[in-house]
Amino acid sequence: MPNHTPNNTALLSRSLAAVWHPCSQMKHYESFPLVPIARGSGVWLYDCDVKRYLDAVSSWWVNLFGHCNPRINAALRDQLETLEHVMLAGFTHEPVVLLSERLRELAPAGLGHCFYGSDGASATEIALKMSAHYWRNSGRPDKTQFISLQNSYHGETLGALSVTDVALFRDAYGALIRQQAIVPSPDSRKASAGESAEAYALRCADALETHLQRHHAELAAFIVEPLVQGAAGMAMYHPVYLKRARELCSQYGVHLIADEIAVGMGRTGTLFACEQAGITPDFLLLSKGITGGYLPLSIVMTTDEIYQAFYADQTARGFLHSHSYTGNPLACRAALATLDIFQQDNVLAANRNKATYLNQVAQPLREHPAVRDWRNTGMIWAFEVVTPHADFAQRCFALALQSELLLRPIGNTVYFMPPYVINEAEMDLLVSRTLDIVEALA
Ligand SMILES: Cc1ncc(COP(=O)(O)O)c(C=O)c1O
Repeated sequence: MPNHTPNNTALLSRSLAAVWHPCSQMKHYESFPLVPIARGSGVWLYDCDVKRYLDAVSSWWVNLFGHCNPRINAALRDQLETLEHVMLAGFTHEPVVLLSERLRELAPAGLGHCFYGSDGASATEIALKMSAHYWRNSGRPDKTQFISLQNSYHGETLGALSVTDVALFRDAYGALIRQQAIVPSPDSRKASAGESAEAYALRCADALETHLQRHHAELAAFIVEPLVQGAAGMAMYHPVYLKRARELCSQYGVHLIADEIAVGMGRTGTLFACEQAGITPDFLLLSKGITGGYLPLSIVMTTDEIYQAFYADQTARGFLHSHSYTGNPLACRAALATLDIFQQDNVLAANRNKATYLNQVAQPLREHPAVRDWRNTGMIWAFEVVTPHADFAQRCFALALQSELLLRPIGNTVYFMPPYVINEAEMDLLVSRTLDIVEALA
């Protein structure tokens, strides 16, 4: 790299001049400056001068085993010397074969075919297209509609936005998006007084059934974020909803797409969130943590039944979808190294102990009078803050940076989704400094 060690100020002004940052109103960076990052190690990100930040959001929910993890680095170095990339149409390579074989062993039974994309939104596009194309190939060309949950998030390309229920991301593009139906979210915070999370989830499943009864003839698939709706503000719900959704989708002949882009790879306590409901979806979407947070890769896993509907002599019956970097060997190798760490370090068991520890040390935070709806699933924690500040999210973000934390609240929801390598001292620091921030903003 030419300018090797820039200072913070120089990097910021060059970035603002040359880089159009994502998910941003660029003008806001006049009052809330960008955060320059020079390097990372473990849960820590370091700027170009002297500051460090504990990455409590795993850099948009991707990082699992820390920044610059030595084992993933070593695997990538080795792969770099072997094969950096080859197109996957008409060619194959060992990392993509090994990864597909290993995922087939690990995923809920029956998901034996892996189709590759690049980022999360491309996996959503692939699943939507594959589902509708399956029905077309099966003599049901009218099944072209989709349903998703209220407050769902499945990515921001046009197809993915059509099943994303976040007004801020959708409204400007309304004219470009095909309107799809939304069914009630089983978000357990919405249960009536005295109603259990399970009872509320079943009530929402009844609403899903009513919709399926009326519309199944034109429905291709129901897409859902299993157990935790991330962008909705870490809305958590009872697994019985997924179990019931699986039964209903099978009964009414509608595919179930499990978008595990954010919740897969151990985030909810099991390797895949669907395991907690004991179900196999028709499509399982993976991205984000699949490469340990190193490289863009997404995977759509599906069943033999769906695969066979495309297997024919005619080219047009095939799934003619592609991205240049589909199944990139470096990304697949990072994913293989990530799976090795899960296996060698018994990560899911270690995470259970970490979650127990964090819940214990978080007691004073949970009990703070401004904290509402404390919730935890696996390695995700969230709560709402009662505050007089309309711009709570920005203030909290800024105060957190001053306290060496990278927190990125969604509205009034503060959440922790740290890399799994976080240790007890780091959890203590995360919780105690968050408590100070809540105190300051309550
Ligand atoms: C559940 C879910 N689906 C899809 C996506 C889109 O992934 P990407 O940002 O890689 O396109 C996200 C991203 O946050 C997500 O949380």
